[in-house]
Amino acid sequence: MRYGYFDKKNKEYVVTRPDTPTPWINYIGSGNYGGIVSNTGGGYSFHKDPQNRRVTRYRYNSIPMDRPGRYIYIRNKDTGEYWNPGYQPVLKKIDSYSCRHGMGYTVLTGEYQGVIGEVTYFVPDDKNFEIWHVKLSNIRGVAQKLQVFAYSEFCFWDAIMDQQNVDWVQQINQGRYDDGIITYHPHHITDNAAFFATGEKVSSFDTNLETFIGKYRSESNPIAVEQGGCSNSISRRMNGVGAFCIDADLGPNEEREMVFILGFAEERKEIRQDIKDYLSPNNAKAALVRLKEYWENYIGKLCVDTPDEEMNLFVNVWNQYQCKTTFNWSRFVSLYQLGLGRGMGIRDSAQDSLGVMHTIPSEAKELIIKLLKCQFTDGRAYHLFFPLTGEGGQGDAPVKKYDWYSDDHLWLILAVNAYVKETGDFKFLNEPILYNDKTTSETVMKHLDRALEFTYNNRGPNNIALAGRADWNDTLNLDLGNGVAESVFTSMLFCRAVLEMLELCEYLKNNGFCSEDSAMYKEMSCEGVEPCSKFSDMYQEMRNAINESSWDGEWYKRAFDDYGNPLGSKENEYGKIFINSQSWAILGKVADVEKAEKCMESVDKYLNSKFGIVTMYPSYPEYDETKGGITTFPVGTKENGGIFLHTNPWMMISETLLGNGDKAFEYYSQILPGKRNDDAELYEVEPYVYCQNILGKENPQFGVGRNSWLSGTAAWNMVASSQHILGIRANYDCLIVEPCIPSNWEGFKAKRVFRGATYNIEVQNPNGVNSGIAKITVDGEEVTKIPVFEAGTTHTVIVLMK
Ligand code: GLC
Repeated sequence: MRYGYFDKKNKEYVVTRPDTPTPWINYIGSGNYGGIVSNTGGGYSFHKDPQNRRVTRYRYNSIPMDRPGRYIYIRNKDTGEYWNPGYQPVLKKIDSYSCRHGMGYTVLTGEYQGVIGEVTYFVPDDKNFEIWHVKLSNIRGVAQKLQVFAYSEFCFWDAIMDQQNVDWVQQINQGRYDDGIITYHPHHITDNAAFFATGEKVSSFDTNLETFIGKYRSESNPIAVEQGGCSNSISRRMNGVGAFCIDADLGPNEEREMVFILGFAEERKEIRQDIKDYLSPNNAKAALVRLKEYWENYIGKLCVDTPDEEMNLFVNVWNQYQCKTTFNWSRFVSLYQLGLGRGMGIRDSAQDSLGVMHTIPSEAKELIIKLLKCQFTDGRAYHLFFPLTGEGGQGDAPVKKYDWYSDDHLWLILAVNAYVKETGDFKFLNEPILYNDKTTSETVMKHLDRALEFTYNNRGPNNIALAGRADWNDTLNLDLGNGVAESVFTSMLFCRAVLEMLELCEYLKNNGFCSEDSAMYKEMSCEGVEPCSKFSDMYQEMRNAINESSWDGEWYKRAFDDYGNPLGSKENEYGKIFINSQSWAILGKVADVEKAEKCMESVDKYLNSKFGIVTMYPSYPEYDETKGGITTFPVGTKENGGIFLHTNPWMMISETLLGNGDKAFEYYSQILPGKRNDDAELYEVEPYVYCQNILGKENPQFGVGRNSWLSGTAAWNMVASSQHILGIRANYDCLIVEPCIPSNWEGFKAKRVFRGATYNIEVQNPNGVNSGIAKITVDGEEVTKIPVFEAGTTHTVIVLMK
């Protein structure tokens, strides 16, 4: 069953019935002020940090589901009937409903008894506030006497305290009203405030929740709406709301527009000035046009035209869009990650930067700098940080012998290398950055060098990386206190990272960047060892150690527990084979061709399913403390044999590295969310973005998606599809186009903006191959590599496959 469709022309997903299996959400804002908006208007807002600057409340696990939100009530003064354009919270069966989720905005439209109500939510010009633009249309030939109530429930800024110390929070929070502006702030704070405002003539307002809703009522039947007016309450304690009642009588076929603004002000005396240009409906609409232009520009750096419509839709719009959201919020704030406690993940954000690198590399650089500041002088990193305060933390996996995750710091190398390839900004490598233990600054390059050294210096009995608290798989908690558990995955990631450093250093060396006055070069050579040979030796040593200890005959083992026993081996009854040590054996160039092919065959045979590749098989049936968190999940769930989608693009990339374009595309296609649109009742989550996990083949609810939006799946699918299947990727001094596509494709076209120049690319596949290039021409001339051109110029690239 479907709940909506993709409107390709307007780049929107249109939800056509409100009772979706889970709230289908969108994000507004671009990483500063913003929030979540569901298809029925549910959701919440925050400024810069959902834990420390929460603006409005949301009740997780609430019944009725998905409340509260940004609500518009429309009331007929003659009949007393009231309803919402987005169906919630009144739940009145309206004559028509739609929700249009677009890039950075959501439009809810409802019709009831000849009135169309439409509300558009978005953040204009990256301001500290959001606009609710409301349009009412009377489509009957008779006048209708109407009222509009706009409503949002404020939260105490510290969202944890809001739950923990209700006594304090309810005593200190104060609501105030001044000529169209409601402010809400703790009694002792003199500058900041959350606010709700309108430029309309206010007929009444409330700032106190208990007054607006009334006792033993809910958002479904607030006393204020029922009685046809607010009470002008000034909240001196208890809970706060921003609520306005506006008279909106409409003549026959008349329309009326109005604007409400919800936001957070650093200086409350400046609110009126800050919002004045946005209060008129025309200005609000102009701001929406600017927002749409921003997004067109954001997605416009890459545009593909392949024989697969769904791939086009995702590469061109939805996958790119989701990547910006994961880049903004990491795994911090969604309807599943509550914006409390967790912060921005170091490994997560480093990977998220890969998904936006082709379009906003300078923003990616800013984020990478924040991540490098989370590194300790010994090379490891915090596990997470909070964007508002800059504080770091170590996450919540159990600490036994070590308090670090074995992989966090290594992802930084992949992110920096991708940034340099996209921009050619080699100077960045020389920039000094402070460590989080704040003793010294060292260059970016030295930070990366130290990251490798940390893993190299923390190896176990098999000479491979120690597992620490966990690796990429947060739930593999193998360290029981002996401190000898090892991660084959981290060792393979180390190989990938060290190869990237080697590639970078070789480029620097061969292109005259390693002069004596280059700080990074001096720092890297400080032990008198030439960096390239150091990295090459490190790689060989780790590769040999993995092959000696971890090859299992048909695939690679996944880890060794704290007693030295393997996980992911044919010797194991459960957890015989894991996905990550197969894909990363190829990504880290650990496997030779024969082993690589065996790994791929084994994944296909034991782990693949129609909804995606599961993380491991067979799932652990019972809790087992020697393995940790993974065994807290039932069979076929999340890391315990679920389809943890983040791992699937690594398999796609691996297949392309072996030249298997058909298989890579099959893996890509089988998890495309758009392909689950007709099956949404089973899938449950949004068909326009990747979710984190789908229940796996051993689970009775096989195929149900869970934890939508914030997942490394977004960035890695962007990388897998555009850089490896379509094969368009940046390099230090050229653009690479090396497709590995399905053999039944006759080719494809793409536009890629690289360092400011536009490349119109056409790939021709006359002989139906997966990969291999016969000839490349640029502007009619045959070339061996596609050069970097002056910004602003346009070029034609034709790639003829073998
Ligand atoms: C979650 C975490 C991520 C981790 C993954 C696998 O998505 O945010 O950091 O790698 O789970 O455990």
